[in-house]
Amino acid sequence: MPFDFDSATRRKLGYKLIDHIDAYYSSLPDRPVQLPAEQRTYGPLDDPMPEDGADPLTVLDEIWREMVDQGFHVPAANYFGLMNPTPTYMGFLGEALVAGLNPQLATLARSQLASKIEVETLRWIGERVGWPGAFNGTFTSGGNEANFSGLAMALARKFPGAIEDGIATIGAQPVAIDADLRAGRKPFCVVATAGTTSSGIIDDLPAIAEICQRYKLWLHVDGAYGASLIFSGKHRHLIRGIEQADSITIDPHKWLAVPFAAGVILTSHPEILERAFAVYAPYMPKAVDAVLPDNSKISAQWTRRMNAMKLWLTLKVHGRKAYEEHIDRQMNLARGFADWVGRSEQFELSAPVAVPILNLRLKGVTDPKQRAALHNALVDEITRDGRRWISETIVNGESVIRVMVVSYLTEERHITALQEAMVAAAADIQLSAVSPRAKT
Ligand SMILES: Cc1ncc(COP(=O)(O)O)c(C=O)c1O
Repeated sequence: MPFDFDSATRRKLGYKLIDHIDAYYSSLPDRPVQLPAEQRTYGPLDDPMPEDGADPLTVLDEIWREMVDQGFHVPAANYFGLMNPTPTYMGFLGEALVAGLNPQLATLARSQLASKIEVETLRWIGERVGWPGAFNGTFTSGGNEANFSGLAMALARKFPGAIEDGIATIGAQPVAIDADLRAGRKPFCVVATAGTTSSGIIDDLPAIAEICQRYKLWLHVDGAYGASLIFSGKHRHLIRGIEQADSITIDPHKWLAVPFAAGVILTSHPEILERAFAVYAPYMPKAVDAVLPDNSKISAQWTRRMNAMKLWLTLKVHGRKAYEEHIDRQMNLARGFADWVGRSEQFELSAPVAVPILNLRLKGVTDPKQRAALHNALVDEITRDGRRWISETIVNGESVIRVMVVSYLTEERHITALQEAMVAAAADIQLSAVSPRAKT
């Protein structure tokens, strides 16, 4: 079948998809996160590669049904999970728009307005960091690429030769710990975290910045999740000191609720961003009188899709204040949850609540192994019917139950229902642990 559908087919397929997406968004407040445990499968699919293709509407309908019926629904309101959001609808539309136009952001000459929109989006974010002087940055595939980019810049500043000639030319193992100086090692960077994955803990950024200044170390703040607090006037103080960072990771595909993938690396040293990434390629077209750098000169990616559009569109339609409210609502829900834990007979908090991530543990269990086993059993019990999702993780070597308010669709009623499920599961598993036969 040829690729270029006629207009009637394109429209039929497009409208069909939009109808599906619309029904899906309507279902999210009450949609189960996944299938019940006994129906989940993890094996590979084994269809052969199609030689001739099939009717597009049938294929689209089928894959839609299967993805929804057998999928894991991160966007559901009952997903109390890792840092993956319900995408804003404008974010979804932005993705479709970008996929259709397929702008190539490697060079300004071939992307033009698309690059300008990306630069504008970065400026909006960077202005909220509060750096006094110039800054620059680029969109990345996510937090990991942004963190690697921060490290590449730290290396580029301290060891400029390492960019062309390789890290081996540094002549010592680069490390980032004070005492290593005396041992002849070469500290160059400190990575602080604003919102750790398991607990949401935010490092003492001003204190770390002071150490970095004293030892002339690059400060990279991994704010993949927590740096989004720059969008909140009310809660921004939680990441006080972030403006002293040399570089910052912030992932719009986390707290800013845009679809994957969208990370951002920002730096207050634009020249070092270029030093770390600029590679000369004679075939790359050049824009006449360009004042903006080509993206391929400030990024680990060359061929690059436009990851900024979904955030730009969300901001254009909803405005920054929508994020202010989104963050405030989630902080309040998490604090209410923490109050509930404070009154609970079964649970206690194992870490303070900095952002909308709770670490809880069962009360009255002192043996770490038994606690981990009970926590895992409790999480299994709560997630077994597929309706909602929470997780178990390790913090400071100790098992904790992790609950995160991450969807903008999550309301008080979802939290109350989760708490009821937790109380019932705790009673159930503790009863089984005391007397395996007592459970009927
Ligand atoms: C604090 C932190 N940094 C970095 C990452 C990696 O981000 P990504 O998955 O977007 O690469 C995560 C992922 O959850 C994270 O929580």
